[in-house]
Amino acid sequence: MEEKKEDGPNGIRVVMVMNRKGGCGKSTLVKGLASAAAERGESVTIFDTDSSESAYQWMLNAKELGNWAGDVTVIKSLDSAEIGETIDRLFDMPDQEHLVLIDTFGGASEAIDDLAMISHFIVIPSKLSRSDVTETTQTLKWHANLKRRAADPAAVPPSRVMLSAVPVRRNEAEETAYMHIMTTMPTLTEPVMQRAAYVRMDLEGMLGAIRDNLVNKANAKHMDVAIAEMESVLGAIDEIIKKGQADG
Ligand SMILES: Nc1ncnc2c1ncn2[C@@H]1O[C@H](COP(=O)(O)OP(=O)(O)OP(=O)(O)O)[C@@H](O)[C@H]1O
Ligand SMILES: [Mg+2]
Repeated sequence: MEEKKEDGPNGIRVVMVMNRKGGCGKSTLVKGLASAAAERGESVTIFDTDSSESAYQWMLNAKELGNWAGDVTVIKSLDSAEIGETIDRLFDMPDQEHLVLIDTFGGASEAIDDLAMISHFIVIPSKLSRSDVTETTQTLKWHANLKRRAADPAAVPPSRVMLSAVPVRRNEAEETAYMHIMTTMPTLTEPVMQRAAYVRMDLEGMLGAIRDNLVNKANAKHMDVAIAEMESVLGAIDEIIKKGQADG
């Protein structure tokens, strides 16, 4: 693998989305970030490493519905070496704004470790249930262990927990989980809220394409709010990656 490098304002970034917890919002985040990057005019490559093919099937369905836009490709592969080679080829291409997203299935494995090492950043989405908090803690331990095991700990990308599907009205347990995550874990400051727009994205395709194809433009605002939210998560990720590259 070639040395991680930056070209242009954002360049090529490889972001892995990971949590041992199932259903915590990994694929939703991948689809949302892909939508936001496409909206910016960036190229996007999603590697779907989950055997359920959530992202890959999403693309097929979205294309059928005419809700696919921009230069966004989903590649399904369970082979971390093959993914590494494909990413290497992206770095060989001329300067480009290109977001590479790796959607994972959860469980820890050697392949996941390999994929982490070719990433610039790891996002760990977490909902507010007790089991999400437990598994998110375990996932952070996995990241800390990866640093301990790595020949060069500095080569292990940074990780942040990202609150996902946060309800506006939270019960006491959810509020406790929210505060616990925000005060004790390294987090992205921007949470992703629970939104019908993301459920719609899952069922129908890319956020921007759905908005552009809406007959009733009154609903466009909901899609725009979701795109803006994903755009700010992407901005926060880009900031951390850039800062890391400046420091290191
Ligand atoms: N921000 C959100 N707003 C509304 N619904 C959400 C949000 N995030 C996730 N969901 C819903 O939660 C469910 C699980 O989300 P998702 O498929 O993204 O999780 P996952 O971590 O990829 O799951 P798996 O471990 O099975 O791959 C889906 O039904 C999705 O629509
Ligand atoms: Mg998934």
